Amino acid sequence: MEQISIIDSKDHVDERVKIGVWLTDKRSSGKISFLQLRDGTAFFQGVVVKNTVGEEIFDLAKKLKQETSMWVTGTIHQDDRSHFGYEIEIDGIEVIGESGDYPITPKEHGIDFLLDHRHLWLRSSRPHAIMEIRNEVIRATYEFFNQEGFIKIDAPILTDSAPEGTTELFKTKYFDREAYLSQSGQLYEEAGAMAFGKVFSFGPTFRAEKSKTRRHLTEFWQIEPEMAFMHQEESLQVQERYVAFLVQNVIDHCAYELKILGRDVGTLKKYTKLPFARITYDKAIEMLQASGKFPDLKWGVDFGSPEETFLADQFEQPVFVMNYPKSVKPFYMKPHPTRDDLVVCADLLAPEGYGEIIGGSERSTDYDYLVSQLEKTGQDIKNYEWYLDLRKFGSVPHSGFGLGLERALTWITGEDHVRETIPFPRMLHRLNP
Ligand code: 4AD
Ligand code: MG
Repeated sequence: MEQISIIDSKDHVDERVKIGVWLTDKRSSGKISFLQLRDGTAFFQGVVVKNTVGEEIFDLAKKLKQETSMWVTGTIHQDDRSHFGYEIEIDGIEVIGESGDYPITPKEHGIDFLLDHRHLWLRSSRPHAIMEIRNEVIRATYEFFNQEGFIKIDAPILTDSAPEGTTELFKTKYFDREAYLSQSGQLYEEAGAMAFGKVFSFGPTFRAEKSKTRRHLTEFWQIEPEMAFMHQEESLQVQERYVAFLVQNVIDHCAYELKILGRDVGTLKKYTKLPFARITYDKAIEMLQASGKFPDLKWGVDFGSPEETFLADQFEQPVFVMNYPKSVKPFYMKPHPTRDDLVVCADLLAPEGYGEIIGGSERSTDYDYLVSQLEKTGQDIKNYEWYLDLRKFGSVPHSGFGLGLERALTWITGEDHVRETIPFPRMLHRLNP
């Protein structure tokens, strides 16, 4: 008898197999028990019929507690009524590990309770589906950048630079000096691009965000590509190809998970059509003002969630908002060639109110400009000498961007809160588990 995983049931219809499982829920009548089972790869139902298995196994099945682990043997059948499509008719059960009173029951729990039990909650079908999609997005990310000729250059986590400004830094002791947890790998990717042409990093980044919004984590994962000999317009094309590729791969490989989450595939399909819309910041301000919904809005402000949602709602697909005021963006962005007050950048806003999923720009190649920008923000030039070196030795036009993995996942999965999309979220009041 072959030992299989639930996910491979389709290849074993009408065969007798052995599977290691946990019990997630059960229901019994006098003669038949339905065991809801999971093995990490998927969820399906086991059916135990008293007349077939005999009294002993039937009684054992009835007494099993939630999250008991066991070997089950039985025959796989097609089951068109379930999301998964297959079930097992059980003929044998061997308990591996007994379970106590499992805190997460099939009834409703509050969000704080669930987050306190995140280490167990991960076993449930919704978080499970989201993590499978997270894994697919990561897999597709590597596929995309490898096929586009990028190489992965890992950026350090412990740094002494603050690319995104000094207000949201996590500081830590570093022997006899201070270090920061990386806000972004970008500056290192710029060095990488000058060495390898097209590079990307994928790693955790940190922001000491005191804001308790649906979009903010203090620790989140960023994919940060950086391309030498590339202007912003070409970078936007890489970005839209990448995002459409992610969505397409989730549609192609995560149909079961999307079904569990109730995410409409037809809606997602719209986001694979290229090109995405493009508007300037100036135009965005015009649209917001014309709507009458933002009476106090003035040119020069950064957008918050209500503005981003309004703008995104005007388009069927994600939309690039280009060329923001210099004053609301980081020091490294290239100044606009004809407008002194703007930088050559874009944020990609996701539809359906999910906000900014990518921030990117062309980078300034002007040594003196960068020094003056750093000085303006009160940063210690000494810590950036290596970065400024990149402008001294064969500087070239280059552009890059950062996609927030959890932001993108929140949108793709249709979840309400970014915390659902990372295994162990870190937020203002949450460091455990
Ligand atoms: O727009 P941001 O701050 O850009 C950078 O860090 C650039 N250095 C990226 C680059 O050009 N290489 O962050 C990039 C993305 C945002 O668009 C958003 O998706 C996500 O990271 N992000 C967050 N996600 C979750 N929680 C937070 N607190 C986030 N802050 C940014
Ligand atoms: Mg941003």
